[in-house]
Amino acid sequence: MITNLFLSLAFWSTTVCAQSKFPEMNGISYEMYKDFTQDWNLVTVRYRKDSGEMRFTYANREAFSALKNESSDYPNGAIFGKVSFVTGEDPSYLSSVMPMAPSRVQLMVRDKIKYKNSNGWGYALFTPDGKLMPGDIKEKTESCVACHSIVEESGHVFSKPIGFIKTSKFNALESLKTKKVYFTTSKVSDLPRNIQKLLPSADKNINDLQGVLKKHFFYGTFDEIRPTLIKESLRTRKPSILIGDDKKSFSLVFINKSGHCSKGETEIMSFHTGPKPKRKVIEIKVCVGDK
Ligand code: HEC
Repeated sequence: MITNLFLSLAFWSTTVCAQSKFPEMNGISYEMYKDFTQDWNLVTVRYRKDSGEMRFTYANREAFSALKNESSDYPNGAIFGKVSFVTGEDPSYLSSVMPMAPSRVQLMVRDKIKYKNSNGWGYALFTPDGKLMPGDIKEKTESCVACHSIVEESGHVFSKPIGFIKTSKFNALESLKTKKVYFTTSKVSDLPRNIQKLLPSADKNINDLQGVLKKHFFYGTFDEIRPTLIKESLRTRKPSILIGDDKKSFSLVFINKSGHCSKGETEIMSFHTGPKPKRKVIEIKVCVGDK
């Protein structure tokens, strides 16, 4: 008995010591929730047409029941986990696209007191093996908070359970009316020189995304926002940009009129900056359906 107690104490203390070795963001480590894809409810699957990335979002019991009741007041202990995968064709059945390698893991942990400065959610972002992604933690956190504030009326949670979308009282378009994210028109000639150089000379005006994301961003924001920019460019046939308040970080898209996509598709050129301090410009070309 005594030996047992001693053993379990020893075990406990090594576990505690070991835990503190895991990388943490806002007091959250990936290790704490590493089995979430098996233990929690699958909420939804999202697919990004521009990057071919598939995301699976899971909710623990507390989060899932609030979600199903369409409560925007998530209780303490509610947690969402999201894992993103790059996709590829199934070698044994080529028209079937499947998740291949995981690319990152994101967590949102509800604690209204501990995380009162980030609207009651603790945000964390990891590589698939639980390491921290590059970048300043404060900056990363502020960008999570800023973008998730677009859906403030649904408790800062974007996902809707599969099947609940049509009946949901939270309408994504409603959030646009709150002017958290909106476009104005700016002159290309007012942009920093290095950005002007990337654009075709025929374009004089550009859709300029305004709102919360301009102030609080990290390099992930500029990749995340690409589909929104593409949509606006397809709608207006003009280039679109999100440029940070620092005037150095940006995501830019425009239609490449001499592109080589198949009929019914448009070639989009996109440039966005990577992690600081280098802010290397990443170029991506995608064919997107016109509809
Ligand atoms: C530019 C916008 C944007 C930023 C920045 C952002 N998110 Fe999200 N997040 C989304 C969207 C949109 C969804 C749902 C759709 C999807 O997954 O594509 C989402 C979903 C999630 C989910 C699943 C729960 C939910 O709200 O649906 C988690 C967890 C999450 N994000 C964590 C984070 C973390 C952690 C950060 C910061 C490191 C972050 N997010 C930054 C836009 C953003």
